Amino acid sequence: GTPENRTPTGAENGAPPTVNAQHGEYLTTAQGARLRDTDHSLKAGPRGPTLLQDHHFREKITHFDHERIPERVVHARGAGAHGVFTGYGSATDVTRAGFLRQGKETPVFVRFSTVLGSRGSADTVRDTRGFATKFYTDEGTFDLVGNNIPVFFIQDAIKFPDIIHAGKPHPDREIPQAQSAHDTFWDFVSLHTEAQHHTMWNMSDRGIPRSYRTMEGFGVHTFRLVNEAGETTLAKFHWKPKLGVHSLTWEEAQLASGVDPDFHRRDLYDAIEAGAFPEWELGLQLFPDTPDETFAGIDLLDPTKIVPEELAPVQAVGKLVLNRVPSNFFAETEQVAFHLGHLPPGIDVTNDPLLQGRLFSYLDTQLTRLAGPNFHQIPINRPHAPVNDMLRDGFHQQAVHAGVAPYRPNSLDGGNPFPGGDDAFLDLPVTVAEAPKVRANPVSFDDHYSQVRLFWQSMSPVEKEHIVRAYAFELGKCYEQAIKERQLRCLANIDPVLCAQVATSLGLPAPEPTVPLATVEPSPALSQVGQEWPPD
Ligand code: HEM
Repeated sequence: GTPENRTPTGAENGAPPTVNAQHGEYLTTAQGARLRDTDHSLKAGPRGPTLLQDHHFREKITHFDHERIPERVVHARGAGAHGVFTGYGSATDVTRAGFLRQGKETPVFVRFSTVLGSRGSADTVRDTRGFATKFYTDEGTFDLVGNNIPVFFIQDAIKFPDIIHAGKPHPDREIPQAQSAHDTFWDFVSLHTEAQHHTMWNMSDRGIPRSYRTMEGFGVHTFRLVNEAGETTLAKFHWKPKLGVHSLTWEEAQLASGVDPDFHRRDLYDAIEAGAFPEWELGLQLFPDTPDETFAGIDLLDPTKIVPEELAPVQAVGKLVLNRVPSNFFAETEQVAFHLGHLPPGIDVTNDPLLQGRLFSYLDTQLTRLAGPNFHQIPINRPHAPVNDMLRDGFHQQAVHAGVAPYRPNSLDGGNPFPGGDDAFLDLPVTVAEAPKVRANPVSFDDHYSQVRLFWQSMSPVEKEHIVRAYAFELGKCYEQAIKERQLRCLANIDPVLCAQVATSLGLPAPEPTVPLATVEPSPALSQVGQEWPPD
């Protein structure tokens, strides 16, 4: 690779360079002893039993026996690529983050994924897609761990095991392997109605992208930006693909699943190797950091809501180009570990209760998936900024730390606290309210239908037809009639025509809304937007 986007060797961090286990002229054991024959085990005569003393045989088989690591608990199937991000300088008023400065180039690694399928599942199934980006910035790594859908199923991270248990294959038959066509999924989303917005995005053409290159990406949560003067602005991150947003039709998606289950990863790698580098612009929606953390009546801490671009335009702040295929799938795509807490100075979190829980979950799961606390030393995870932490020892330690005093204060080694004001995890002028300890959501999270309705109303006739067919197909796979009926009641709360059409396809009567439609009308600002959509 080029110097800008090479995999870091770690040598610059004081760690030994990456192990290169494939050099030298001859085959060897793991200890470097040359091998004359790796095709026959050592036996007591050509017809005799294999000898325990055959260390080469045992090393080869033992290592093979331990080749697999656990797949990710979600987003197991994915494809990654290297690239470079270039800042436009247009965000410097709102954030001090150095990688957004004009002309600044930062190496990146991006991993796209489906959510529910296992590592071997097909690419083109109906699902949400992950869009996770690791920016190796000079000020420490920034991970933007987003999806191709701007809202999420749940408002509170404590519900994540519930939605994933409901969405993963049935525990008894492990069917279906990767889709939302089953009882537990529809049982959950029809009972836990805040999931209805994300579900409709899944049932729309967004659930079956044409290519990773033609997907948008969203940070979903609202983040808090901090500028040089210490002023804060709330922001949502967007990736806009240069090729525009395109989807497959359902028939194409099904055919591709059979003909080429690797359809999306092949497309990504073929494009890069042909020099047709995939490109996205990074954009920000910006909102004043007011005490109520709302904009146009929308609670910015509610991850089941969007802010329409007509109300808060997406402002381009930089460009991402993917230009290099990984050289080893396991080392890079499989071992990469993203984390929302990997933030550079100038980007901070908000109290979105989904975001807050994610801050815990990723490191926690990676401790198991990557076997211990030192996976930040794996080449793909190594920061490009100098590292001087006080973390020591542990399984798979690669570094040989030279100092003797991994504690503070000390009078023996260097590595003093940074004296400037430019560090990460700054104290912010944000008030954390004195409030009683509660297990509850804000009341503003209670509206589960108005934005789903807005989404439906914004669709063109053909897109609406696709949505109806998707609900009919996926719900049609449910065995329990009561679940189909309950989901139809949710659709009745969204739109009577939608509900009637899906009900007809399922051969069931269309129920009446359970929430009076008048109470799910969007706020005045939003109803205006609804009428303007689609822009053409
Ligand atoms: C993995 C996105 C919510 C837990 C991922 C990945 C993405 C992602 C893109 C794949 C990362 C990769 O390629 O390695 C999102 C988005 C969310 C969300 C956009 C909501 C806005 C949550 C929540 C939790 C969670 C609420 C838990 C409380 C996990 C875990 C993994 C994962 C455990 C596997 C990580 C690994 O093994 O490395 N998520 N996620 N996610 N997510 Fe989320």
